[in-house]
Amino acid sequence: MTVAEIRKRYLDFFAAKGHKVIPSASLVPENDPTTLFTGSGMQPLVPYLLGAPHPEGKRVADSQKCFRAEDIDDVGDNRHTTFFEMLGNWSFGDYFKKEQLPWLFEFLTDKEKGAGLDPQNLYVTVFAGDKETGIPADDESVEVWKGLFKHKGIEAEYVELGSEKEGGEKGMQGGRIFSYDVKKNWWSRSGIPSNMPAGEPGGPDSEVFYDFGTPHDPKFGKECHPNCDCGRFMEIGNSVFMEYKKNEDGTFEKLKQRNVDFGGGLERITAAANNDPDMFHIDVLNPILERLPENLPMRNKRIIADHSRAMAFLVADGVRPSNKGAGYVLRRLMRRAMIYEYMTGDPDLNLVGVIDGLVEKYAGIYPEMQVETIVPVYEDENKKFMSAFKNGLKEFDKLVQNGKISGSDIFRLFSTYGLPYESAMEFAKERAGITIDKEEFEREMEKHRELSRTASAGAFKGGLADHSEKTTRLHTAHHLLLKALQMVLGPQVKQRGSNITSERLRMDFSYDGKMTDEQKAEAERIVNEKIKEDLPVTRSELPREEAEKLGAEHEFGQKYPDRVSVYSVGPKGATAENPQFEKAFSLEFCGGPHVAHTGEIGKFKILKEEASSAGVRRIRAAIE
Ligand code: ALA
Repeated sequence: MTVAEIRKRYLDFFAAKGHKVIPSASLVPENDPTTLFTGSGMQPLVPYLLGAPHPEGKRVADSQKCFRAEDIDDVGDNRHTTFFEMLGNWSFGDYFKKEQLPWLFEFLTDKEKGAGLDPQNLYVTVFAGDKETGIPADDESVEVWKGLFKHKGIEAEYVELGSEKEGGEKGMQGGRIFSYDVKKNWWSRSGIPSNMPAGEPGGPDSEVFYDFGTPHDPKFGKECHPNCDCGRFMEIGNSVFMEYKKNEDGTFEKLKQRNVDFGGGLERITAAANNDPDMFHIDVLNPILERLPENLPMRNKRIIADHSRAMAFLVADGVRPSNKGAGYVLRRLMRRAMIYEYMTGDPDLNLVGVIDGLVEKYAGIYPEMQVETIVPVYEDENKKFMSAFKNGLKEFDKLVQNGKISGSDIFRLFSTYGLPYESAMEFAKERAGITIDKEEFEREMEKHRELSRTASAGAFKGGLADHSEKTTRLHTAHHLLLKALQMVLGPQVKQRGSNITSERLRMDFSYDGKMTDEQKAEAERIVNEKIKEDLPVTRSELPREEAEKLGAEHEFGQKYPDRVSVYSVGPKGATAENPQFEKAFSLEFCGGPHVAHTGEIGKFKILKEEASSAGVRRIRAAIE
């Protein structure tokens, strides 16, 4: 079966069940500043889940283009990709569990109209209930699933597993239907209930897994179970019963309407239909692998295939390589693909042929996939990057001669030559078989992660911080502002989130009640006073416990490594050798980047102060 066949069958199937088929939204969300990319089918449809009438009615189906930058490090195995299509069917306050699960089962197992999967190879999971929110276990779905399997002559046993860890200890126990906790069987854009902001919709879900029957790998736990990552089971679809909304006080209430949000990985269902656990063998990806030199390691082939396809779709949706936001993610992806292409050692190989092949596969469904759009962007970035990269290589080869490359060398290659951090690491290993100072590398990597967390918390995981001059100044202003707020509103004020773009900073902080105009003016005055004092900003690395003892600020709920990077502002005369923490104006866990002296920041201005969620306020501020 091909991807095109499964897509068509799915859409036809749900059209026959009264669904209007709607086109995929862009990979770049419109009017949604909280996220860089569309990463699930429900994202463009949130207003309708919350009750706004959809112009096409209460039942719609689609195949939504999705991009998940956070999965980039997993690409290389047989099932992870950054780009994929999510098949969706939606009930906006119309049908619910009793219709959704039978229809899905019928689609998955029907040989003529559906994917034709053998029901013996299907395993399902349901929500185990949650004490904290009081949301009950999904017994109804258990009953529906039992009936569906029975109809196929399968006695489906129900097994309560709870957590993923318990799954790894207890295993299958002859079961076919398994219950898991909120971590596995609750879905919202922000994950588990406690991570959801007020107003966010979510609900229990029921997932379907395909069993490829491969042997269990004990590296992933003593026993195998549907949510085990060993490769035997692959999740192919998720029916979210989206009927809850989080309240300001953290409790949950029912939404005005009961919704179904089904998401199924098109490529994964195709792989299951072919009973082949290697998703890269499906018709849209395999031709890319076949173009590449045969002796190339499979992981490299898969990375090139995934990144080329994601690049083509992102460019087709208007993203262009740049140094920030979505453009930065694209740049990183392109450069990584180019380096892997370079590593093939074939001077004639380039990705233009790959792009041609992809356009041929997809343009019928996605008319924006045009060679004329994508190839020039690829060639331009390739030209820009490859010359810097080759200079970087000379530098790299010098380091190779010493037989050792440090984490900070790698970081320098990244910052000077644009060699993506992880690619430089991989390169060191693949090109020169070089031993990397692993510990130092991990430390650098952690610093880099912190850096991206602070610079774009929430926007995308594992991205790279924007080092532009303006964001760096805003970054330091952010530290001053937190301290100023604590001085004006009280020491109990804690940071609850942050987001910095080159235009402005945004800080969420815990505080009950609206700030008065006087309080805002005072906070602004303090920040500007500290800027005027031109205080030195210093960075130190300390054991986490020591930094905590010093009272360094850190974000609530954030996990930090054993050694952390801490930035202090002031006092006058402080240096990296003698940071004088006790006398510092501000002290925070942070990966930077920051200005060297507060005087570089410029004039600071609070633009807006408003409610963010219960007990959390949000400030937007800018610098001139
Ligand atoms: N929104 C659900 C998901 O992304 C279907 O898994």
